[in-house]
Amino acid sequence: MSFKTKGGVASMPLTGMLGHFAGLRGASGYGASSTAEQVAGDWDGSGKTVLITGANTGLGLECARVLASRGAEVVIAVRDAAKGAAAAGKIRSRHPEARVSVLPLDLASLESVKAAAEEFKSAGRQLHILVLNAGVMACPFMRTADGHEMQFGTNHLGHFALVRHLEDALLSTARASGVPGRVVSLSSSAHFGPYAAEPIRSEADIDSEAGYSPWQAYGQSKLCNVLLARELHKRWKAEGKPLLAYACHPGVIPSSELFRHSKLPWVVQAPLLMALSPVFKSIAQGAATQTYLATSKDAAALSGEYFADVNLSPSSAPSHDVALSARLWEMSERMCGFA
Ligand SMILES: NC(=O)c1ccc[n+]([C@@H]2O[C@H](COP(=O)([O-])OP(=O)(O)OC[C@H]3O[C@@H](n4cnc5c(N)ncnc54)[C@H](OP(=O)(O)O)[C@@H]3O)[C@@H](O)[C@H]2O)c1
Repeated sequence: MSFKTKGGVASMPLTGMLGHFAGLRGASGYGASSTAEQVAGDWDGSGKTVLITGANTGLGLECARVLASRGAEVVIAVRDAAKGAAAAGKIRSRHPEARVSVLPLDLASLESVKAAAEEFKSAGRQLHILVLNAGVMACPFMRTADGHEMQFGTNHLGHFALVRHLEDALLSTARASGVPGRVVSLSSSAHFGPYAAEPIRSEADIDSEAGYSPWQAYGQSKLCNVLLARELHKRWKAEGKPLLAYACHPGVIPSSELFRHSKLPWVVQAPLLMALSPVFKSIAQGAATQTYLATSKDAAALSGEYFADVNLSPSSAPSHDVALSARLWEMSERMCGFA
């Protein structure tokens, strides 16, 4: 499958579509139609703490539910306390023994990100797995509390800052337990379609309304998610830190709330949804890849990679661009106040 971007045509792997039609399984033993329940299998989460951003709904909630059902202590990091409490209630209603708590976190505010990390750590908690799941897609031009373009600021900068603030907790837990910590970043096949002229806009332009495109800004932010996972892997490996990082595309799941900013008129949307329904995933299927990366022993050897349909998957050329990755890292450090 290919789709047009402003300056050319980007390709997307076909495995998802074909795999979905044919029920194919990849090297992991799972495929596009596998569910989070199936990939978690008999994973034992007892004694493990998992923090998942944006887990009050959609893929994050399903991932949280499945991990909590396997005994993990799950922290749902959300911007709306009432939605967080409702989500925790939903998990407990299915799994009365589940250990779930809610942490206030607004990724669109670097102060909130820092406060959330401090609150998490002040409880003396361990952190085994961090799932960077929250996201906003194709919104009209908006700014975060810090003045950054909303999709870049929420999907990338907020998560970048969260990882940096929680790295010490991940590291001390990994060293104490002897099991590497994991960071799982929810990207998207949309990372194949960032801005055409520059996959990641310059520091001078990235927060500018001029030239803003809702979809290309989403693609740009999702490219940042892949680059962050690769850069974290590279740095942690070089530093000898027992930490693993992954990025993934969950599939296309129109039943989540992600499409809230991209509703088409009903007469266009209804036939389109019907025509594409064979390749869409349910939320249970959409949460499979992130759940696999959070739990699988096999994935331990594949840090720094990009996954789709619960298997290794090709990612775009810019997602392998070492210079671009270094520029993004330095820019993010400055913007988040780490440099
Ligand atoms: N669904 C798909 O087809 C699809 C495809 C490719 C990639 N993805 C990626 O998968 C991830 C999960 O998406 P989903 O489909 O589950 O979407 P969703 O149902 O819209 O859930 C997104 C979550 O992110 C939270 N969020 C948004 N802005 C936030 C902020 N500033 N601070 C904290 N939380 C914030 C939302 O909170 P509120 O409820 O308070 O808004 C919500 O909990 C996203 O990163 C998305 O880009 C999804």
